[in-house]
Amino acid sequence: MKHIRNFCIIAHIDHGKSTLADRLLDHTGSVTEREKQDQLLDNMDLERERGITIKSHAIQMEYVHKGETYILNLIDTPGHVDFSYEVSRSIAACEGALLIVDAAQSIQAQTISNLYLALENDLEIIPVLNKIDLPSANPEEVTDDIVDLLGCDPEEVIPASGKTGLGVDKILEAIIEKIPPPKGNPEEPLQAMIFDSVYNPFRGIEVIFRVVNGEITKGQKIKFMATGKEYYADEIGTLKLSQVPKNVIKTGDVGYLISGIKEAREVKVGDTITDAKTPTKNMIAGFENVKPMVFAGIYPVDTEDYEELRASMEKLQLNDASLVFTPESSAALGFGFRCGFLGMLHMEIIQERLEREFDMTVITTVPNVSYLAYSKKEPDTPIIVNNPSDLPDPSSMDRVEEPYIKATIITKSDFVGPVMSLCIDKRGQITNQTYLTPERVELNFDIPLAEIVFDFYDRLKTVSKGYASFDYSPIGMRASKLVKVDILLNAQSVDALSALIHADNAYNIGKKMCEKLKELIPRQQFDIPIQAAIGAKIISRETIKALRKDVTAKCYGGDISRKRKLLEKQKKGKKRMRQVGNVEIPQQAFMAVLKLN
Ligand code: GTP
Repeated sequence: MKHIRNFCIIAHIDHGKSTLADRLLDHTGSVTEREKQDQLLDNMDLERERGITIKSHAIQMEYVHKGETYILNLIDTPGHVDFSYEVSRSIAACEGALLIVDAAQSIQAQTISNLYLALENDLEIIPVLNKIDLPSANPEEVTDDIVDLLGCDPEEVIPASGKTGLGVDKILEAIIEKIPPPKGNPEEPLQAMIFDSVYNPFRGIEVIFRVVNGEITKGQKIKFMATGKEYYADEIGTLKLSQVPKNVIKTGDVGYLISGIKEAREVKVGDTITDAKTPTKNMIAGFENVKPMVFAGIYPVDTEDYEELRASMEKLQLNDASLVFTPESSAALGFGFRCGFLGMLHMEIIQERLEREFDMTVITTVPNVSYLAYSKKEPDTPIIVNNPSDLPDPSSMDRVEEPYIKATIITKSDFVGPVMSLCIDKRGQITNQTYLTPERVELNFDIPLAEIVFDFYDRLKTVSKGYASFDYSPIGMRASKLVKVDILLNAQSVDALSALIHADNAYNIGKKMCEKLKELIPRQQFDIPIQAAIGAKIISRETIKALRKDVTAKCYGGDISRKRKLLEKQKKGKKRMRQVGNVEIPQQAFMAVLKLN
């Protein structure tokens, strides 16, 4: 056990985490030439394309230091706020963390939020000043920033470059000398924490865990404490670049487990694995069921594809337990599903996977957060509202609550003004303002989640000319004055376009919605009125003027093949349109509310 080191790498996005991890693998001889790929840890196609680590993985290296061989378990953490619960569990599986800071960018919002998570878990922090090869690097200043943040000595900050490999030796040494070995008691009953799981269509779910106390042996009957399910440890092993089966994984070590589990939802990140016969009394602290934060309707473009869509979603759910869905029907869109996602990125990933892996063409409706409505009759029993059109009649309501988050924003002092007005515009309340240096400011806001899931990040980048970083964490539900704004097309209410909006902004947003829809909905053979309404009251109106010319009129004579081609072309362009009443609505229109300025 004293030769094991469990550590993770925390960094703001693009500060070079994956590149440095590759260097560590290289340097410890954990990779053969043939296995070398650009970014070893990012092995999902989608991950590589997006250049971000979506799911965390673990990898084991061996390193000889002063004549002794050490086992280093590098636990990779996802870099996006949608997956923050997984980050927190990965961090909890470690004793130390490399804190990577880009020498040109200095400390950013995710540097800080991840650092706080690491400190909450009492991790030893090894600061690394990365990318010092960059011409724009500012090593002295950024070292000072790190020293200020951590209260460490400047000598402790390791200058490094994932590009040239500089500093990698020093980092490995620091991992061994500064990070404590795992504690844990080998004599106690098995207690292992699940910090990740990977779906393998042939072998079932691969559970990634860290043994906290006791040990796990091949063939042992084990129990997952949160679900109460029992399995046999058919195969256990350590994670090198590929899996290496073992007979036992001992206290403090990291490994994988295969038990023929077919469904992702049976395996919960944060859960404790114990022995089925002599179980531990205590679950490892910090377990939570992950809750979806963002909801949207997913509908087949072609109503006939409903069953196929259901089958595809079920398959997706097998390997992504954080996706939840229930059937719903919309007067406008027919039968589909209300889906819950961890965040907007997760939603995009699911949509993309449905299209790539299952060849489905879907319409996604405006995402919304989950609200709690309390009726006057039963003001203590919340009704969960995951779809704005399910909001009960306002006159019967005592109050509506919405999720709030604490936002951390780091920006240059020049942009404090514009950033603040953006946050206030988004119903945020400033709770803290700290000058990290004379030029750099950390701002904290309490702000409704609904206001930031959509275009907040883009607008933040605009108002700060790119010099702002942003991260957030949930802080619970708060009452808000929310009203339902409905949209009527051709006098017909389109439920899929309804949104819950703060009463003070409802008129303004209703008006902008109408304007945006006018832009997005193609003209048709007749006038289409677009109206926004609160209850029976119309608050705004626009009209899409009728199309004068018939497109096929351009075809001279009766050249039927040309006419057909034109119609085919139109049909293709229509792929993502839905007929609602007699109006055709393109996919972008369902997202219009996200694109308002
Ligand atoms: P996420 O996984 O998306 O959070 O990013 P990351 O932190 O893993 O960053 P990644 O390793 O993907 O590096 C981001 C970019 O910086 C890539 O274009 C790298 O090639 C580049 N990069 C990483 N390390 C260095 C370095 O030491 N020097 C220079 N010049 N570029 C680097």
